[in-house]
Amino acid sequence: MELTGIDSTVALVTGAAQGIGAAVASTLAGAGAHVAVVDRNVEALGTVVEKLRAGGGSAHGYLVDVCHSDAVEALVRDIEDELGPIGILVNSAGVLHTGRVVDLSDQQWQETFSVNAGGVFHVSRAVAQRMLRRRRGAIVTVASNAAGVPRTEMAAYAASKAAAAQFTRCLGLELSDHGIRCNVVSPGSTDTPMLRSMLGEDTEARGVIEGSPAAYRVGIPLGKLARPQDVAEAVAYLVSDQAGHITMQDLYVDGGAALHA
Ligand SMILES: NC(=O)c1ccc[n+]([C@@H]2O[C@H](COP(=O)([O-])OP(=O)(O)OC[C@H]3O[C@@H](n4cnc5c(N)ncnc54)[C@H](O)[C@@H]3O)[C@@H](O)[C@H]2O)c1
Repeated sequence: MELTGIDSTVALVTGAAQGIGAAVASTLAGAGAHVAVVDRNVEALGTVVEKLRAGGGSAHGYLVDVCHSDAVEALVRDIEDELGPIGILVNSAGVLHTGRVVDLSDQQWQETFSVNAGGVFHVSRAVAQRMLRRRRGAIVTVASNAAGVPRTEMAAYAASKAAAAQFTRCLGLELSDHGIRCNVVSPGSTDTPMLRSMLGEDTEARGVIEGSPAAYRVGIPLGKLARPQDVAEAVAYLVSDQAGHITMQDLYVDGGAALHA
């Protein structure tokens, strides 16, 4: 299916220097979007922008930490001045701190919420204020299936993703009578630097796929990790015209790991 409504649109993608965000940036650039590639990792950002341009895409790098409200406001203003009105926003920047609740530090909890929930709020607010005036736009937040299924050693992360997901759906309700759609994509285990930092060896990746009764994990029914591209395709669909009557939805891209449709 050819996706429409992306070509020539300005798309802001956070966390786009690697992993899922980079795959989203590449997919949207491939569909003709002018992509504002936003991240706080300067080296990886430069590499991704070069790669997208080498592939014929329209990509522009912006260095920002989404935790900082003022910096985000300036970022969105600069992108609109330089590239034009933002029609698509994808919130993919995220961090993961694992550990049992009894061992979590204040700092781990705060950083998790500051990026995964606060960052989504800052960027979405700044972009939504502008989309509202134009009465058009589409927003997707990349949350996690951990937001809906309890996981051991992931309480801070799961709670922050539940906050981001519900925030995005409430935003969708507030913006719906302005024709702006807001949806959530909730990946399961996806083969990116974030997952590898948690798993390390391939044997541990097999453990995620097969499941672990001791950790109350059922595994992945489809028998494989997601590729970043699997998640990017779902995001691209949701921001396209083909999803023109879909808003406030939460699409799980997890190979069935959450055991629901
Ligand atoms: N990989 C998985 O298994 C998985 C599963 C479910 C959900 N997710 C979510 O998908 C999203 C992308 O994950 P990923 O696996 O590609 O992660 P990743 O760590 O590979 O990439 C995340 C990117 O976000 C950037 N980032 C982090 N904090 C930032 C900040 N404060 N400001 C700007 N940029 C920031 C990082 O520099 C990095 O480039 C995250 O929100 C993550 O929580 C990932």
